Amino acid sequence: MKSIIITGGAGFIGSHVVRLFVNKYPDYHIINLDKLTYAGNLANLKDIEDKPNYTFIKADICDFDKVLEVMQQYKVDGIIHLAAESHVDRSIKDPFTFAKTNVIGTLSLLQAARLYWESLPEKYENKRFYHISTDEVYGALEMTHPEGIEPPFKTTASSGEHHVAYGEEFFYETTKYAPHSPYSASKASSDHFVRAFHDTYGMPTIVTNCSNNYGPYQFPEKLIPLFINNIRHHKALPVYGKGENVRDWLYVEDHARAIDTIFHNGTVAQTYNIGGFNEWKNIDLIKVLIRTVDRALGNPEGTSEELITFVTDRAGHDLRYAIDSTKLQTELGWEPSLQFEEGIEKTVNWYLNNQEWMDNITSGEYENYYNEMYSNR
Ligand code: NAD
Ligand code: DAU
Repeated sequence: MKSIIITGGAGFIGSHVVRLFVNKYPDYHIINLDKLTYAGNLANLKDIEDKPNYTFIKADICDFDKVLEVMQQYKVDGIIHLAAESHVDRSIKDPFTFAKTNVIGTLSLLQAARLYWESLPEKYENKRFYHISTDEVYGALEMTHPEGIEPPFKTTASSGEHHVAYGEEFFYETTKYAPHSPYSASKASSDHFVRAFHDTYGMPTIVTNCSNNYGPYQFPEKLIPLFINNIRHHKALPVYGKGENVRDWLYVEDHARAIDTIFHNGTVAQTYNIGGFNEWKNIDLIKVLIRTVDRALGNPEGTSEELITFVTDRAGHDLRYAIDSTKLQTELGWEPSLQFEEGIEKTVNWYLNNQEWMDNITSGEYENYYNEMYSNR
């Protein structure tokens, strides 16, 4: 039996990874280690919480002694590390918390894994430390385009696949790190620590860098769930700047499947980029979202466009992210399963059918936080 710690399993992506592993691998013991910050929510895991191969432990990854104790107690062979502070806007207000959780927390996990695994007779054999990171560590891409062709234009990835892009450059596994926000700087730093533990101690590590995820159970401070909820309540939709920034969107279950594939078949010490070749300018995505929510609510499509409100831009707002995931697709055979319009429809329906989940988060303390954030823009 494999014993695996998934950190941050009560968060958005983590809950999908926990669910996938608990259901798909009944002979693995999945230990969800999560501090339950504002972003952690055990309601995300209601459907699997009673499974015999699942254990939840409320703990802070910065608590080295506790993490080491859990590893020893459960004889842990693998760690999939998702716990992090994840919201760029919060990192601009409070960078220290990001350095603490994302950098010191990751270092504390690495050091605990090192001490535990090095104490075993087999040491690092059949062990794995898999760190989940972000495309934001690569910085921002330009919107350059071939002469005479305005973006978005059709381009060809290194795999030969055709897709629509807003620029000629992409993030590759070899792209130099150039983080701009306190969030991405803290993630970049944690990625460096993970690689250093491989190079220095021989720990079997893997790092993956993924693009923007969307889907069920995302905390409603992030663009897509926030806007779905605001449309439902007929509240303003705060578009940063002119809505010109480009993000590359991947359905969260496709990310979870990629994590499964890489955890089992990825090569130690390698980096894999994960993304769906699915670039959208914010304002265009928002209009698709509005049409989809309007349709689902039985309103004429586009009615809610009147809620669009252009607000002060995010400081240091990265212009464009675009992941080239050819390596993962060709070496490990992973590919995204959903077209974006299909994914957005599924996502909108999920939030509208799970209003209690949303209302439990957005009532009370969080509502005050959001109103304060919004009024300061
Ligand atoms: P999230 O904010 O929804 O969840 C984070 C989880 O980590 C929460 O359950 C929280 O309680 C837990 N956590 C935070 N601090 C902790 C601590 N000190 N100790 C233990 N648990 C702690 O985040 P998410 O969007 O699901 O992102 C998960 C991971 O994936 C992060 O590492 C993030 O950088 C990365 N990532 C996210 C995206 C995205 O689009 N959301 C894309 C690429 C990579
Ligand atoms: O690229 C991967 C990253 O994607 C992850 O590493 C982060 O954890 C995750 O939060 C996400 O970061 P973004 O900053 O891209 O996501 P967010 O949902 O906050 O914003 C998406 C875009 O929408 C971004 O260009 C900012 C803009 N935006 C966001 C909000 C919340 C708005 O215009 N208005 C808003 O109210």
